[in-house]
Amino acid sequence: MFYEPKNDDHGLPYNPFKACVVPRPIGWITSLSYDGIVNLAPFSISNQLSYDPPFVFFSGSGTSDEADSEPRRKDSVVNAEDTGEFVYNMATYGLREQVNLSSKHVPKDVDELAMCGLTPAPCNIVKCPRVAESPVSLECKHHATLSLPSNRTMGVHHVVIGEVVGIHINDNALTDGLVDWIKIRPLARMGYMDYTSVTEVFTMKGPKGEEFSPGKIGESSKSKLWDKV
Ligand SMILES: Cc1cc2nc3c(=O)[nH]c(=O)nc-3n(C[C@H](O)[C@H](O)[C@H](O)COP(=O)(O)O)c2cc1C
Repeated sequence: MFYEPKNDDHGLPYNPFKACVVPRPIGWITSLSYDGIVNLAPFSISNQLSYDPPFVFFSGSGTSDEADSEPRRKDSVVNAEDTGEFVYNMATYGLREQVNLSSKHVPKDVDELAMCGLTPAPCNIVKCPRVAESPVSLECKHHATLSLPSNRTMGVHHVVIGEVVGIHINDNALTDGLVDWIKIRPLARMGYMDYTSVTEVFTMKGPKGEEFSPGKIGESSKSKLWDKV
């Protein structure tokens, strides 16, 4: 089949687009409002962008509630811009219920970390807390926001790009010094109401037969960090 998104004439029972770019990692974004209230929300349109220095992004659509006469930017977007900071926490299968709950639209003065029964952990560089229960948290400084146009009023997306200035990895998430995905089961979005999580990993050599060769724990391995994307 083929269809042009502008015509929306796929003839399928549900728009397939989101189901076609999968699995999407879920950036679980903590941010602080201008008044210091903690905000937490999941964004599946999110990923790494580069690695030296590392940049990540999340993309928020428009939103509105009864008080709004027209769509506004999501709180995570506003907070990242107002404070210049946010934290990209890893969502995991074990935290899936809290991830889902944190997507609830609530008034700006609600501490969503507390609402989800989660623990704020201090960051080292940014003022915003991270999610203590998450195995990986990336402290980010807001770099830029790119706005993408849309055919729908709510569809305008604000792509928030942050430079990663600090990285927390829970020691329990490491096995022999490597991030152990089977242990932490990163959560990802498919399409529709479906999710997946990492339960299987396989290894391939590089195209020239290159083997993975990590250094020893404690030894500087800067050059080994970025062998392959
Ligand atoms: C798993 C999951 C992924 C989501 N991904 C996105 C996304 O990529 N972009 C978006 O605008 N909303 C996304 N949402 C909805 C937001 O999390 C939701 O609108 C939230 O209330 C935004 O909060 P905020 O206004 O506090 O930033 C997602 C929801 C869930 C459950």
